[in-house]
Amino acid sequence: MKILIFGDIVGKIGRRALSAVLPDLRKKHQPDLVIANGENLAHGKGITRSTVDEMFAAGVDILTGGNHTFEGKEGPLLLGDPLYRGRILRPGNYPEGVPGIGFATKEVGTRRVCVINLQGRVFMKAAVDDPLRAFDRLLAEASALAKPQIVMVDFHSEATSEGNAFGWYADGRATAVWGTHTHVPTADERILPGGTAFQTDVGMTGFASGVIGVAKEGPIKTMQTALPVVHELPDEGPAVANALLVEADPKTGKATSVERIQRYVEIR
Ligand SMILES: [Fe+2]
Ligand SMILES: [Fe+2]
Repeated sequence: MKILIFGDIVGKIGRRALSAVLPDLRKKHQPDLVIANGENLAHGKGITRSTVDEMFAAGVDILTGGNHTFEGKEGPLLLGDPLYRGRILRPGNYPEGVPGIGFATKEVGTRRVCVINLQGRVFMKAAVDDPLRAFDRLLAEASALAKPQIVMVDFHSEATSEGNAFGWYADGRATAVWGTHTHVPTADERILPGGTAFQTDVGMTGFASGVIGVAKEGPIKTMQTALPVVHELPDEGPAVANALLVEADPKTGKATSVERIQRYVEIR
């Protein structure tokens, strides 16, 4: 089984870049499932009905989330909308009562794939619960409900150390663990000894000539003045699509290969 994973899709240019590269990646790699992080879909901040629909139409099967998922009016509504249940996730270690769910199980052919979404706590503002205990709990719930053969985990975090620690914690129990949130891909993709494919951060799909997806002028101004600046997000220009391709054996639930993918595309 092959699973193609995208990190944070940032704004319109990111959505267009994903739509531009996915047909070719699909032809070349023939993934059985496509997962992407949607926390920045709507102009960098959160999700809207039209932007999630655009990604599903482009071929994404499941959208994971993060701290930005809850920004804007539509995020919480979409997370609670039965129409999208099992297709839009938010980190599962947000406190009880927060809209949405942290894992979903999808039938892929004769197999069941569980996708789990968690968020880190180091250098992150949200006071979420311990992601390690949350992983144990969600995995137990998913196993009781559906006995998935494949377990995929989007670990949304800022600190590379926290992501690394989580990867080791899940090694042997998850088929793959990958990071999202920093928007910068790390060159450490590998299969851990227990059979878990791991990459600290997959990196974004979005504007390639700026600062983690936004025009460079805003963040530079903030550094010069210490004042908040409205970030501009160009709709056109050079874009990058970062992805991770994981191949797994559904009989063992272990990863058999892991490949980092990077495509540049000019969006006009
Ligand atoms: Fe992000
Ligand atoms: Fe984030």
